[in-house]
Order: sequence, then structure tokens, then C-alpha cells
Amino acid sequence: MLKGHGGNIYDLAQQLGCHPSEIVDMSSNMNPLGPPEDLVSLLQENINTISSLPEVDANRTVNAFADRYHIDPERVIAGNGTTQFIYSIPRILETKRALIFAPTYADYADACAIQNIDYNYSTARESVAFEHDMNAAAQQIQGYDTVFICNPNNPTGNIIPAADLEQLCKSHADVNFVIDESYLMFVDGFNTQSMIRSALPNVMVLDSMSKFFGIPGLRIGFLISSPVIIKKFKTYLLPWSVNSLAQMAVHYLMKQTAEVETFIENTVKFIAQERYILFETFKNSSLIKLFPSTTCFILARLYGNLTADDLGMHLAQDRILIRNCSNFSGLSDRFIRFSLKTGEINRMFAKKLLARISQEESILK
Ligand SMILES: Cc1ncc(COP(=O)(O)O)c(C=O)c1O
Repeated sequence: MLKGHGGNIYDLAQQLGCHPSEIVDMSSNMNPLGPPEDLVSLLQENINTISSLPEVDANRTVNAFADRYHIDPERVIAGNGTTQFIYSIPRILETKRALIFAPTYADYADACAIQNIDYNYSTARESVAFEHDMNAAAQQIQGYDTVFICNPNNPTGNIIPAADLEQLCKSHADVNFVIDESYLMFVDGFNTQSMIRSALPNVMVLDSMSKFFGIPGLRIGFLISSPVIIKKFKTYLLPWSVNSLAQMAVHYLMKQTAEVETFIENTVKFIAQERYILFETFKNSSLIKLFPSTTCFILARLYGNLTADDLGMHLAQDRILIRNCSNFSGLSDRFIRFSLKTGEINRMFAKKLLARISQEESILK
């Protein structure tokens, strides 16, 4: 871990002398409705499963995932969160030069850096709300063998339509494309935007169970690619990478029961509604601008004198943690990201944020 992550409620709780559960964590992007209640009961009832070894290669778990999405199981591998794959991709693909669509999640760069792999950014501009110009990006890819794209992107919330991605990957057949879909299920119409059914052999899709199903502590994620690439990853797969409770969770989540399908529908609807309310709340402020998002978090820019650090410190006094985005390449100390929580928490957060910004506005006048 070179550049660090958000969501460090443990550090903040220690500073404030409280328990981590007393912190309102607006910095980590978990589904506020998750995990599904029936899943929690199932895991509680089966806690004794930890006394035996899980299936060594999580093969049945892979089959459950492949069945759910009607894809060949030979195209899927399961791991200890998508993080396991992000960090092994450059080594297994023997990446020489990587291009990363930015501003984005730092781990793609970290995965290259720790293996001394040369990487660069293709950075979308603020003036176009961080939308990537796909023609310019297509030109920039020349000379790189691996491209990382987070879709929808963390922290901007932008999505590149699947058709555009498919075209980009097709036109650079000798380049490996890693498409991280960890936040895709939050997007309205996500089924039509996924690349997991792409037949292109140079596409690798990352699919995390952590965010949407609210189970980051279970550590479970998938890599979906061509059978040839998956075979390479299987050679390096550590035995028992996916623990027994995580495997059980996948079996439950992939069954398409009424409970799971309702959970998915409710989440997508709820996230869209809360995003709308927050945009409406801040639309007339001249000191904060929210960037359009398709997923469960929002990137915002601060104007005036307030920095992300200042704001973070003030909100921390109220036991609220936001993501200071100053360490994202392509952003600055004027950017923050916050995730959507329950309606009650979002309203409370918006009120505190507005109060702090209005206070700043009155100082400036
Ligand atoms: C864009 C993105 N990809 C992947 C991950 C890692 O998720 P996991 O390892 O839990 O699947 C994160 C975690 O924050 C993320 O934001």
C-alpha cells in the first residue's frame, strides 16, 4: 500500500477517543442498504464452517458466478477481493508499460510501482466534468501494453458506455485492458453496461462483491477474461484464497432469489434518489460543486478558501469522515468525495456540510 486509501475510521476514532462504530464513514463506498439481512442470518447460522477448510480453488463458487451471468466458468477466477488481482495483474501479464485512466483509484498505479513497472496517466479534465475523450485516449494508448480503466470511475462517478469501451479494446487488440466494474451494480441499467460478456481476448473485468453487497470484510472478488488468461492466473492462485464464509455468501447472492433481486432493485432505486436529493441541496451553492455521478458516491469541488483538509477536520469534530481527494493524481486539495448513506445520515451530513460552507461564505463577504 503506497498511496493509502480512504475509510480510515480506526485512526480517526483513536484521535477522537471514540469507538470506530461511532464514526459516520462517508469516505467508504459501501451499499448503505447492505448487506442483505438474509445473508447475514445465513452466515451467522453457518459460522461453524470456519472450522473446516474452504474449497481450495473456490471452484464451485466460480461455477455459481458463471451460471448467474451465463458465461463459461473457464473464463472466471475467484480471489480474496479484486485487490488480489489488481496487484497480480502486472506481474502475470508481464506488463512493461501501463496507462491508467485518471483521476482514479490509486491501487492500479501502486500495483505497477511496487513491481517497478513504468506507468502513466491519461487524465480527464475538470472542465469537461472528468469525461474521457475516447478519441484522444485511443491515440494515447500507443506504446502501452496494459490499460487500467475503472468503470464507473472512483472517485468521479463517470461511466464510459460499454459500446465505447468495446470499440476501444477492439481497436487495440495487442493491448490488455483491465476494466474495474467494482461500482457498476449501483448504476441504473448496469446489466447492459458490463463487459463481462465481451468475447474480446484482451479484456479483463474485475467484479467485486465488497461494495454492492456491503461485505468488504468477507474479501471476495472475481476476474473474468479469456480462458487463456484465466489459466495463467490459476497457475499463480494461492490455495484457499477465498474463505468459507465468503464462498457461502457467493452461493447465496448468485441464486437470483426474490430476496436478492429485490435487494438489487431497491439499492439502485435508493442510490439514484439520494443522489438526486443531494444534488438539489447543493445546486445553488457557489462554494461547492458536485460532479454528476452514476454510482454510490459523489465527487465535489470546493471553491473559496476552504481546503479538503480544513473541511475534513471540521467534519471530523462531528465524527464524520469524508474522503480528502488531494492524493488522487489529477485532483487537488480542493476535492472531496463522499458516499451515499441512509436518508437520515445523508440529510444530517448535508446540513453539517452546508453549515460549514455557509460559515465560510459569510467570512468571505
Ligand atoms: C475501484 C475499486 N476497485 C477495487 C477495490 C477493491 O475492492 P475489493 O478488493 O474489496 O474487491 C476498491 C476498493 O475501494 C475500489 O474502490
